[in-house]
Amino acid sequence: MAPARCEASAGGTAPPAGAAVATAATVRVWDPVVRLFHWLLVAAFAVAWLTGDELERLHEAAGYAIIGLLAVRVVWGFVGGRHARFADFVRSPPVVVAYLADMGRLRAGRHLGHNPAGGAMVVALVLMLAATAATGIMMTTDVWWGVEWVEEAHELAATLTLVLVGLHVAGVILASLAHQENLVRAMLTGRKRSL
Ligand code: HEM
Ligand code: HEM
Repeated sequence: MAPARCEASAGGTAPPAGAAVATAATVRVWDPVVRLFHWLLVAAFAVAWLTGDELERLHEAAGYAIIGLLAVRVVWGFVGGRHARFADFVRSPPVVVAYLADMGRLRAGRHLGHNPAGGAMVVALVLMLAATAATGIMMTTDVWWGVEWVEEAHELAATLTLVLVGLHVAGVILASLAHQENLVRAMLTGRKRSL
């Protein structure tokens, strides 16, 4: 396997602008808002998924919590720290496809923030979660209550989101193995090795 490449702006010994240096060997990549958002989202999604067929009040509360989390994250994507910003990780489809091809050849470069495939997954997850929540809310309105296609759309959106989550976790495991780093721990501590 070829040695991992670092993105140019994240390479070298200089810490990224705006990121606090934890030690000489690690840099802070995920700010507290991103980390809190992530793990609260995981919890709320688990509750929403497990309560879909019953426990309607808890289910709807978890769904509204997800909407709140998404709203905060979208704003943070414009005003947050360097690696939280959409401009840092949303790449054009050709760049994402090229990165996926590199992953297939086990020579995908290492990125301090989200890699191009990870960035595309963030966008896909946010959109699918929003679609799931939107169709869920529709089911509670006078206009859409009891309408079969809305119920089916909600169920389909929830299932597709779960599929994305599976791919997301697989991608995290693959990237962790490829670059010999624990990305789950990085999402907990906020820190990654600088090189
Ligand atoms: C327990 C299973 C999960 C693990 C281990 C996990 C792990 C991670 C890791 C390591 C990252 C950072 C990826 C990177 O380095 O580029 C990440 C990002 C992300 N994950 Fe997960 N994840 C899990 C479940 C979920 C679920 C269930 C959702 C949504 C329903 C989700 C949504 C996201 C989003 C939106 C981001 C982007 C974070 C941001 O930039 O704000 N994850 N996840
Ligand atoms: C984004 C998070 C959400 C997820 C993952 C999710 C997931 C699910 C799932 C898997 C079901 C069961 C579908 C079935 O098997 O028939 C369901 C049903 C339902 N969801 Fe959601 N949902 C979410 C958000 C919401 C929201 C925000 C609302 C409304 C405020 C909502 C309202 C409902 C209702 C009313 C049902 C039907 C319950 C029943 O007929 O017993 N959901 N949801």
